[in-house]
Amino acid sequence: MATPNLTTLGIETSCDETGLALYNTERGLLGHALFSQIDIHAAYGGVVPEIASRDHLRKLLPLLQEVLDQAGMQRSDIDAVAYTAGPGLVGALLVGACLGQSLAFALQRPALGVHHLEGHLLAPLLEADPPQPPFVALLVSGGHTQLIAVRALGDYELLGDTLDDATGEAFDKCAQLMGLPYPGGPALARLAEEGDPTAFKLARPMLDRPGLDFSFSGLKTQVALAWRDSAQDDRSRRDLAASFQAAVVETLVEKCRRAWTQTGFSTLVVAGGVGANRRLRADLRELASRDGVQVHYPRPEFCTDNGAMIAVAGALRLAGGESSGPAISVRPRWPLAELTRIAEGSGLRAQGPEELDSARS
Ligand code: KG4
Ligand code: ZN
Repeated sequence: MATPNLTTLGIETSCDETGLALYNTERGLLGHALFSQIDIHAAYGGVVPEIASRDHLRKLLPLLQEVLDQAGMQRSDIDAVAYTAGPGLVGALLVGACLGQSLAFALQRPALGVHHLEGHLLAPLLEADPPQPPFVALLVSGGHTQLIAVRALGDYELLGDTLDDATGEAFDKCAQLMGLPYPGGPALARLAEEGDPTAFKLARPMLDRPGLDFSFSGLKTQVALAWRDSAQDDRSRRDLAASFQAAVVETLVEKCRRAWTQTGFSTLVVAGGVGANRRLRADLRELASRDGVQVHYPRPEFCTDNGAMIAVAGALRLAGGESSGPAISVRPRWPLAELTRIAEGSGLRAQGPEELDSARS
């Protein structure tokens, strides 16, 4: 089946980022815009769902105009609309779904509700050298820590999951207890680069038993106790950050090694916000190259939530003939394994960052 020339609008509003993007199946990414609500929620120490919904409402139309301007297009040039339908905050999801469905109805175009995690998984397809299935995916975000066997696009098998906290959540909570502002993950990672990763002896959770599941709440308690008993000065903050990061990264890297050994796949895709972590990237690259495994990452701005990944995942399914019908419905909980295989042949043209810059200018 030939890939139709389709311009898809992607809309992401599952949590605290409003992201929009335009993706063309032949020309690649034509524009993307993002507004992060982090500063708005920081005062509360976490995401306030009602405030998130209201702010998505405030930003969606200005950002839509921004991506249309970047692409030199009008609303009528949009061929299809993809919006995040879950998992996520119900109110925030509904705001994006309402815009997506209303726009599609007004333009008489198909609309599709996209799985947020499939968006993360397929974000590396935006890069110049996209991974080909089968591959193992490590999905590490504020809400998820999963290892997934991707046999084909849309064919996902969950190999391992966290029994308690997600990796990003553990970073954020440890950062908070050491007095770093919300969301502390990236700040903790920056501090860790200046600290001594051997200063505090912390557990490597679940490495002493077989399997691919994760658990980070015990490690978080260890960090809380270590911080309580430390001098609580800049040096202990740096060293504890480095020790915590080393424990998490070592655990993630070892589980990835087990996953590519178990499946026999020779490609690993890392997706989700924690995929931006430099220590994780460096250590994974080193071990993978030793085992002859290729590692693919989206560029850092497409590791965290964004509209481009929703546009790409949506474009693949829409090009294969899928659509959602006009109902405005979302799924705050939605197991990834429920998704169905994407029709063969709806391949996309990948595009590197330089090409995006020239498409914008
Ligand atoms: O994928 P994402 O943008 O949103 C979710 O869907 O959760 O991930 C956000 C999470 C936050 O917990 C944030 O602290 C974490 O990713 N994060 C990091 C880094 N950058 C973002 N964690 C560790 N190191 C980083 N460099
Ligand atoms: Zn996400």
